[in-house]
Formats: sequence, C-alpha cells, structure tokens
Amino acid sequence: MEIDRKAFLDSLGGAEGVERMDDEARADALESHMMSELNSAIAAKKSGEAQPPKKYPTAAEVEAQIETRPYRAGVGFMMVPRSGGNVKRLAPMPANPTLQDYFKLRFADTANHVLQSANLAMKNGMSEEIILACLLHDVVQEIMRTDHGWWGAQLFEPYVSEKVTFAIRYHQALRYYADPSVGYEYPDLYRELFGADYVPPPYIEATYQMVRKHKWYMEPRMVAVNDLYAFDPNAIVTIDPFLGIIGRHFKQPKEGLGNDGSPVAHMWRTISRPDQPL
Ligand SMILES: [Fe+2]
Ligand SMILES: [Fe+2]
Repeated sequence: MEIDRKAFLDSLGGAEGVERMDDEARADALESHMMSELNSAIAAKKSGEAQPPKKYPTAAEVEAQIETRPYRAGVGFMMVPRSGGNVKRLAPMPANPTLQDYFKLRFADTANHVLQSANLAMKNGMSEEIILACLLHDVVQEIMRTDHGWWGAQLFEPYVSEKVTFAIRYHQALRYYADPSVGYEYPDLYRELFGADYVPPPYIEATYQMVRKHKWYMEPRMVAVNDLYAFDPNAIVTIDPFLGIIGRHFKQPKEGLGNDGSPVAHMWRTISRPDQPL
C-alpha cells in the first residue's frame, strides 16, 4: 500500500504534531493509518472503483522499520496492545475456564477475526473439523505471533483431533503459496507486511513442499482460503453458531483449560494471567 505522506502528516497535525508524539505514538499512528487506508481500498474495490497501481515496500524497507517500534513485531496482541496507551486490568476468569470463557474474556484482539473466518467456512460448506480449525487458527496470536501456526497447534493439540491440529499448524506456511485450483492467491497484505520481494525462509518452503504432498493438504489449505483479512467491524459474529461443533470436536477438560496438568496448561495460564511478572 502506498502511503500518502502528506495526507498522513496532515492527519496528525502536520510536522509539528508529529514532533510532539513519542516514537510509540508515531508507530501506532502509522499502523492505524495503514489499516484505514486498507479498509478504504477494500471498500473502493467492492464498489468497483478503479484502483491506482499499488507500490509495496521492499523486504529491506520492512526490515528497516524494526527500530521504529518499541516492541518486536512477533509479540502477542494482549502483551503489547497496538492501540497505544496502557493495558487494562483483565476481568477474572472462572475457576474452571472453558474455551468459550477464553473467547469471552481473553481473546479480545483475535476473536472477531477467527469468528468471521469460521463463519465464512460454515457458509462455504466446510467440514466441522475445518470450521473448528478456522475458529482456533489465530487465537494464539494473543501471546505470540511469530510462527503462530506451530504455537497455535501446540496450544490445542491435547483437545482436538490430529486433523484439526494439522490444519492449524500448517495454515501459516500455506498462506505464502498460491493455489489457483481453489482460488487462493498470494495476499496483498503479505506484500505490505513482508515486502514485495520477500522470500519465505527455507523451513517455510520445506513445510509447504511436505504439506502439498500430504493426504490432508486440503485441511490447512481451506483454513487459508477462509482466512479473512478484510475484517468487517459491522459483521459481529458470536460464538453461538459454533457451540455444537465445539461440543462434538473439542475435549474441554473438566478442571478447566490451564488447570488440567496437560503439557500445554502453562500456555493457557499465560493467557489467563498475562500480568504475572514471572
Ligand atoms: Fe494465521
Ligand atoms: Fe487468520
């Protein structure tokens, strides 16, 4: 996406307004400006308006942005809020929390996106396991974004089928590779996020080659196909349409997620109590 520098500076009160901002506020302002530009581009595209050709940053330019942020891009949304300002005190969790409790009380930044993706998968007639994978595919980004496919699969492994875990783990790698047979194109957002000339690292390429030949290839591929980047703030999807699927395919531990002594219980406790200093 090409940033109109003058319009951006004007929106912040010109060069003087920018001077008064600290680095964090500046980085956040840029991020929210880019998001609103993205939203208007999508709206214009939907209304059939002609689009000017886009200019994406190079991978080197993206890398040069690292030191413009007070945090690393991989850190989870609940750990460093992108909206700026201080974090808020979190509501207490029930004694034996379920997946629905985490959706309601902890997945503040990811719930809308995964609910919309699962809703699309349901509309597209996907299997219940793919719909569940869509519902869970990005929520681990609350604590960690880097390699979130692997982190997410690990978080859910004790509670879902191997196929659902497979879909969550590998959707991340497949996002970088087009598959015209199912209408999946390389996302423009990735040109924006990683740079136009970005080449995924060798482990992503190797993972893609492995998954492409796997009998379950279509499971993560369908998560990628139904993965919505164009968030619609007006389309609020609740968890209610998915309660049946959760009941049939998600083994809720009776002690509650985080209290069940599973190998990933600490990950749930981290989401439950992210303000613990140690
Ligand atoms: Fe993802
Ligand atoms: Fe996603």
